[in-house]
Amino acid sequence: MKKNDSGPNAVGHNSVISAVTTAIFDMFSNKGQLDALGDHERIEGKTCFITGANTGLGKSIAVDLAKRGGRIIMACRSGIPEAGEDVKRLSGNTNVEMIQVDLSDLNSVNALCDTLQNRGISIDIAVMNAGLMPLNSRRSDQGYELMFAVHFLANRLIMDRFIHDGIMQPCSNNTTQKDTPRIIFVSSEAHQSSDAINFDQFGAYVEYGLKEGLKHYGTSKLHLSTFAQELSRKLNPGYDSNSNAPVDFAIHSLCPGPIASNIARESPRFLKPILTPIMKLFFNSPDKAAEPVVLLACSEKMGYRTGVYLHMMREKNASAHATDPQQGALLWESSQRLIADFLSPTETTKPQSATTSTATPA
Ligand SMILES: NC(=O)c1ccc[n+]([C@@H]2O[C@H](COP(=O)([O-])OP(=O)(O)OC[C@H]3O[C@@H](n4cnc5c(N)ncnc54)[C@H](OP(=O)(O)O)[C@@H]3O)[C@@H](O)[C@H]2O)c1
Repeated sequence: MKKNDSGPNAVGHNSVISAVTTAIFDMFSNKGQLDALGDHERIEGKTCFITGANTGLGKSIAVDLAKRGGRIIMACRSGIPEAGEDVKRLSGNTNVEMIQVDLSDLNSVNALCDTLQNRGISIDIAVMNAGLMPLNSRRSDQGYELMFAVHFLANRLIMDRFIHDGIMQPCSNNTTQKDTPRIIFVSSEAHQSSDAINFDQFGAYVEYGLKEGLKHYGTSKLHLSTFAQELSRKLNPGYDSNSNAPVDFAIHSLCPGPIASNIARESPRFLKPILTPIMKLFFNSPDKAAEPVVLLACSEKMGYRTGVYLHMMREKNASAHATDPQQGALLWESSQRLIADFLSPTETTKPQSATTSTATPA
């Protein structure tokens, strides 16, 4: 299948250097830029759930949504309670809490969903932001490759639980499109350069070192971007982008562009003298990078649509692989087996462990 070449500066990088230069080039181009959401756009009464909100992009998103009057739930592995206190102080909104979760452990993901369900929390805006770039391959608690587990599988389980357990409810129960429940996936342009998902080896653990890290990062983000498109189709059957008919869930994804954050925390010492000044000089601050997320999460217009993909403040097509309905259906079926053991008994298919997850999808 052809790699996506739509959009002003499509990314086809296979190395850190070309990824960084392309991202910087994209950052300084004004072509097709959307306007950031004005401060007057408020979200009082809405509950916002943000993963990886203790630092970087996630924390800036939490502060912005808190400033707009939302109730904020920060789902984090670390930084409890300090990061939540920071968000309160920076936003002037005290309606902020943190819930502990390790997204690399599906049991921890389930415990988080149980907490939300038992407390009767209803979420209006979910921002699935947490991410990482490990130096080399590592296993998650269930034996999957870490980025596959955090970028994709955790989100797959969370969304299944949120929808089945009624933690998120379709728009038909609401009043206006401004109130459409939003699900925003923080992906990356790196998904555009990934080869198609290998469903014969779905979820199988792969060993890699520093050189192949970016490739596997892109692949894990392709899983996420494909999931975003498939979830959008599944939850909005019959959606027509040419009509103004209401959508049940507005499900969007984006690449926030290069951010001066903690994402490269595992980079080797010899790269830090190169990376640190580049990040400081050229990368966006987390606050700036939060703008497209907030636009997708809060603007009225984005509540009429679903399946939108932004690269920073510019609308693009997600990759041809990510938008292919057949790939989406395969991803859905294949991953259903991996999360089945973590769902209530009413859900059927049997799970598989990472070491044996090479089955052909049903
Ligand atoms: N930085 C960039 O240039 C860039 C570019 C494109 C896309 N993105 C995407 O933007 C998102 C945010 O990244 P960032 O730049 O803000 O990086 P960051 O500063 O490193 O923040 C990543 C967040 O994800 C959390 N996280 C990682 N593994 C987790 C786990 N197992 N369980 C729970 N939380 C976990 C981290 O928690 P801890 O602090 O506890 O580790 C942290 O809160 C990611 O999805 C990333 O892929 C970033």
